[in-house]
Amino acid sequence: MTTIFPADLAHRERHQLLLSGVAPRPIALVSSLDTKGVPNLSPYSFFNAYSSKPPIVAIGPAISAKTGAEKDTYRNIRATGEATISMCSFAMVEALNLASAEYPSDVDEFVKSGLTPRPSNKVAPAGVAESPFIMECVHMETIELRRDIGGNGNIMLLEVVAFHVSDSVMVDGKIDPRRLDLVARMGYDWYARASSEAIFEVRKPTWVGIGVDALPDPIRLSTVLTGNDLAKLAGVRELPMYDGSFPRFEPSFAADSIERELAAGRPEAALFVLMNNAAERHERPLLHRIAQVFLAQDRVDEAWQTLLME
Ligand SMILES: Cc1cc2nc3c(=O)[nH]c(=O)nc-3n(C[C@H](O)[C@H](O)[C@H](O)COP(=O)(O)O)c2cc1C
Repeated sequence: MTTIFPADLAHRERHQLLLSGVAPRPIALVSSLDTKGVPNLSPYSFFNAYSSKPPIVAIGPAISAKTGAEKDTYRNIRATGEATISMCSFAMVEALNLASAEYPSDVDEFVKSGLTPRPSNKVAPAGVAESPFIMECVHMETIELRRDIGGNGNIMLLEVVAFHVSDSVMVDGKIDPRRLDLVARMGYDWYARASSEAIFEVRKPTWVGIGVDALPDPIRLSTVLTGNDLAKLAGVRELPMYDGSFPRFEPSFAADSIERELAAGRPEAALFVLMNNAAERHERPLLHRIAQVFLAQDRVDEAWQTLLME
């Protein structure tokens, strides 16, 4: 690993290093009004949520390192105390990129980007109608970051006073993340899209797992099982015992070769072939590979039983 100290880098390099590593970051499309009522719309990826009681989010508009100028968003929120934040779906990404250009303060980026203002309930700035998730916010406080050493960062804490969620992303009263299709920011000009295989579930343990250190050595030191596999196995409440009846097959059960069955995601069929082949029967790497496919399918009990067959 390369170790880098911030003071050894030029501003641009340090900026891109930080942004490349702290990624993907959610993007807030922030809408605000100046004191004359001119709308402003700009994306901010120094953005996250920090409290849910009450809901508090923060954005980080920087003072320009080049010119020392404040962002319009920063000035507007300090002057009016209000903003909306619209989350960005993939369908909005080119428009938000356009809105990030440094238009003069009197230019309405809704007009420039082609995005549609959606009237708010509790604050004056509009949300973005194309967004599946909009928050109306009031300014709490702004923290200026290390101005004593020429720092140009800010944290603007905003309390959310209303949420708006598109019906199109709701399933059974909950937001389905696959329907949001949100984008996030990475380093340089890279973005990430939270869709298809990029979205997956990891079930939260409801008990304290035995831990990787408690796995038997042949499993813990496996050359096949990955760190994720081991952690999944170590999430069991207690070390399982081999159940002598595993695996059980109907007399009519049929299977192809081990490789083909593993590729087809049929670990039980691979096990069947293995058990009917005396030469390979106790081959540890094969058992581990079969267990791995069970794990990929969240079939932790069967994975354990496969490993314990040895
Ligand atoms: C996806 C994206 C994320 C951005 N995030 C930030 C950020 O977190 N902080 C910042 O100061 N500028 C950020 N920028 C740049 C601002 O959007 C840009 O400077 C914009 O012109 C500011 O507009 P304003 O002066 O109207 O507020 C980002 C730009 C893009 C495209």
